[in-house]
Amino acid sequence: MSSKKKLKPMPNASFKCMMWIYKLTDLIWSPRRRLKKIPVKVGMVVVDYGCGPGRYTLPLAELVGPEGKVFAVDIQPLAIKTVKEKAARKSLTNIEAILVDSYNTGIQGSSADLVILVDTLHAIKDYDALFAEIHQLLKRGGLLFMDPGHMKTSKAIEIIESTGLFTMAECQDKDMLLAPKAKR
Ligand SMILES: C[S@@+](CC[C@H](N)C(=O)[O-])C[C@H]1O[C@@H](n2cnc3c(N)ncnc32)[C@H](O)[C@@H]1O
Repeated sequence: MSSKKKLKPMPNASFKCMMWIYKLTDLIWSPRRRLKKIPVKVGMVVVDYGCGPGRYTLPLAELVGPEGKVFAVDIQPLAIKTVKEKAARKSLTNIEAILVDSYNTGIQGSSADLVILVDTLHAIKDYDALFAEIHQLLKRGGLLFMDPGHMKTSKAIEIIESTGLFTMAECQDKDMLLAPKAKR
């Protein structure tokens, strides 16, 4: 698929259904607990790529604090609306929700300390465009935290390796921490 073609979001009804499923699963497996695996520090700039209803965006914004910033990126307008509403309810002013229709987020290059891509890889149509954007967003020394979504970890690793843009720093169960290779 050409990365110039506008990306199509999932239907609103599917997104709402997904939110309910997350509400139930989060009672057992909290995103906050998972975030303990990620090296998030006060003042960091984080990009939550495929943020959905903001299950990670909100706790990340609390962890980076007012000196930091979290960009919440999604192609589904309901995701952006939900994140904005949750941020307002919690008076979190360090979240910028960005609705995209391509792999270009518009976020300044080499500005992110951390990008997270959770439960999203299976929904991606153009892996090269996605990982090129994530690679250009990351600062030198930045990290990508991701999981394979609904695909096998081995398949996800194959995809990442085929881009030639990242080196595996850690892989624990399905969670991967990757370092960007030096930019040319
Ligand atoms: C299964 S949800 C995961 C949401 C969130 N990361 C979480 O774990 O709670 C996948 C999300 O990725 C979004 N998405 C799919 N393709 C995308 C793309 N190319 N760019 C940005 N977001 C995308 C979907 O709209 C959806 O909100």
